[in-house]
Amino acid sequence: MSNFGNQVQFQVYQTMQHPDPNRLPVVYEEWEKKARDVLEDGPYYYIAGGAGGGKTMEANLNAFDQWNIMPRMLRNVEDRDLTVELFGKTYNYPILHAPIGVQSIIHEEGDLGSARACAEMGIPFTVSSASTVPMEKIAEKMGDAPRWFQLYWSKDPDVTVSFLQRAEKSGYSAIVVTLDTPMLAWREYDLKNVYLPFLLGEGLGNYLTDPAFRSKLEKPPEEDPTSAIMQWTQIFGNPRLTWDDITFLREHTNLPILLKGVLHPDDAKLAMEHGIDGIIVSNHGGRQVDGSISALEALPQIVDTVQEKMPVMMDSGIRRGSDVLKAIALGATAVLVGRPCMYGLAVAGGKGVQEVLTNLLADMDLTMALAGKKSVAEIDRSMLRKTM
Ligand code: FNR
Repeated sequence: MSNFGNQVQFQVYQTMQHPDPNRLPVVYEEWEKKARDVLEDGPYYYIAGGAGGGKTMEANLNAFDQWNIMPRMLRNVEDRDLTVELFGKTYNYPILHAPIGVQSIIHEEGDLGSARACAEMGIPFTVSSASTVPMEKIAEKMGDAPRWFQLYWSKDPDVTVSFLQRAEKSGYSAIVVTLDTPMLAWREYDLKNVYLPFLLGEGLGNYLTDPAFRSKLEKPPEEDPTSAIMQWTQIFGNPRLTWDDITFLREHTNLPILLKGVLHPDDAKLAMEHGIDGIIVSNHGGRQVDGSISALEALPQIVDTVQEKMPVMMDSGIRRGSDVLKAIALGATAVLVGRPCMYGLAVAGGKGVQEVLTNLLADMDLTMALAGKKSVAEIDRSMLRKTM
């Protein structure tokens, strides 16, 4: 669509005589508030909470205010192009759905609702290792629609290899390896609420159906779920990993490998030295290291280090169209959207996710046009000024 934002806008305004009384929110903060209303404390804070005192979450949002857009005029922005290229494929928009585990605690449609929303829009859905629905079932629902798989690198190498093989077999086109979660951080609200969804058996769909995981259980999880969950707690994260282990992944998949959670330019350098295909600059939405550098702050230095040798993407703090624009201007090829999708899911299932993503893209498209750019490819650092 060449003027996506105008069309979405028009669809809304043309209902002016009879606006739908049950309309879903437009204002981002209202999604968050509605999600708060429909969710219990445990699930709500599992989404909204972060590590420690929440400083990184704050920093992620504040970082966008450190940059201002300098709009340009008279540039013929009538027909616009939001497509981006990643690993030889063209995608409709410069956004992906971030990997988010345990979506079953948010809405009964869970992973499948989000997958449907993304498939309808042609937005790549990144399926988490911690999805409640196994990756094959999600793949089946998505048909030919683009999807990536996020790997939590397990302590058990057989499970890791099995996940990679399953992802490749079921049509995932890239592997996102999340590096920032070798263990869960100190999350004050989850501890306060005594809430860890995995212990309820949520978010284990890929593990409980995995032949390598199952082969090490005395009894199948259907007969003895508690032992299976305990086994999962033993193998989930792997704090022993080092850069030398990257070759192990390369040996077991032909798909492009992206590292998610890179924040230091020296780690970006190491990623290049180890033959990695892409980087996702992220601090996991402030859920791992309290007091960390924000993802947007980390982005330009990493982009400069990588020198266009591979795509650099980012997440952590994307809420509105101007955020997407600023991240792309600072060198991101595309961005991943996390919590906003989950608030959409909580409020209205897959339909909510689609509404959130549609609104975000419409906002982004209009802001891009009004700033004087007619394609994602044209967006560059010269359109931004750092605030004093
Ligand atoms: C996440 N994130 C995440 N990342 C990942 O690699 N695997 C996962 O399973 C999850 N699970 C997950 C659950 C929930 C509830 C949240 C909020 C986040 C992190 C996610 O991919 C992304 O990095 C953040 O959501 C980005 O921050 P914002 O923009 O959502 O604040």
